Amino acid sequence: MIGVFDSGLGGLTVVKKIFEYLPDYQVVYFGDTARTPYGGRGTETIKKYALEDLNILLKIGVKLVVVACNTVSAVAFDELIKKSPVPILEVVTPAVERAIKATKNKKIGILGTRATVNSGIYQRLIAEHDKSIKVFAQSAPLLVPFIEEGQLKSVELKRIIRKYLWSLKQQQIDTLILGCTHYPFVRNIIKLKIGKHVNIIDPSTEIVLKLKKMIEEDPGLAGKLTKGQNHKLYVSDISGNFGNLSKEWLKINLPIEEIKVNS
Ligand code: DGL
Repeated sequence: MIGVFDSGLGGLTVVKKIFEYLPDYQVVYFGDTARTPYGGRGTETIKKYALEDLNILLKIGVKLVVVACNTVSAVAFDELIKKSPVPILEVVTPAVERAIKATKNKKIGILGTRATVNSGIYQRLIAEHDKSIKVFAQSAPLLVPFIEEGQLKSVELKRIIRKYLWSLKQQQIDTLILGCTHYPFVRNIIKLKIGKHVNIIDPSTEIVLKLKKMIEEDPGLAGKLTKGQNHKLYVSDISGNFGNLSKEWLKINLPIEEIKVNS
């Protein structure tokens, strides 16, 4: 089984791409819906939650973990990699690599949660590749709550997205990294507001391309991953919109079970 986790719904954007690029493999998902969003929380809390999320997937028996959360990847990945007995992938690096290839005017914008933007990880990784690239980061704390609420088309959301993108637009970026796995849910609005000429880098596509390569190049790992359509979704609170939105997004009705966490 491939295990995928996020603070809530966002990692389903990664699951959707796994179904597209690696359709044979069984996927188990954990969304920490009882404690979402993570992006406004402190480093220690995010690390604690991330380790608990990892352990939930390991207990289920996954043989590979995809951290489908930029916030966790930015803040807690060093801890996770130390603790994980199975291979584990983060979502930031593949998006950075794609953005560096995509930019022509060397101005890259990042839209992310407060914790991701404050971590400075994108700025650091991009500078390691090419110091001449200018990076403009904007935190967007209201987007995750809107998306978790299923308000994907509301007028208020459109207004907020326009406001968040305003400064990035002023900087004339030609490439925008969606630095949160929730944002592909509202990709169309983001595209409309930032302008057609801007390349949008979607972390879900980039991490799954990396995952596919990793599995193809490692027959030992591929052999450990169960195949079949027996996918399952787990959440820490089943009462919200997760059921409807997951069905709508994945176009398939998967079983959902609750696993309690301490909040
Ligand atoms: N999908 C998470 C991310 O990629 C959302 C973070 C949050 O819960 O605030 O950062």
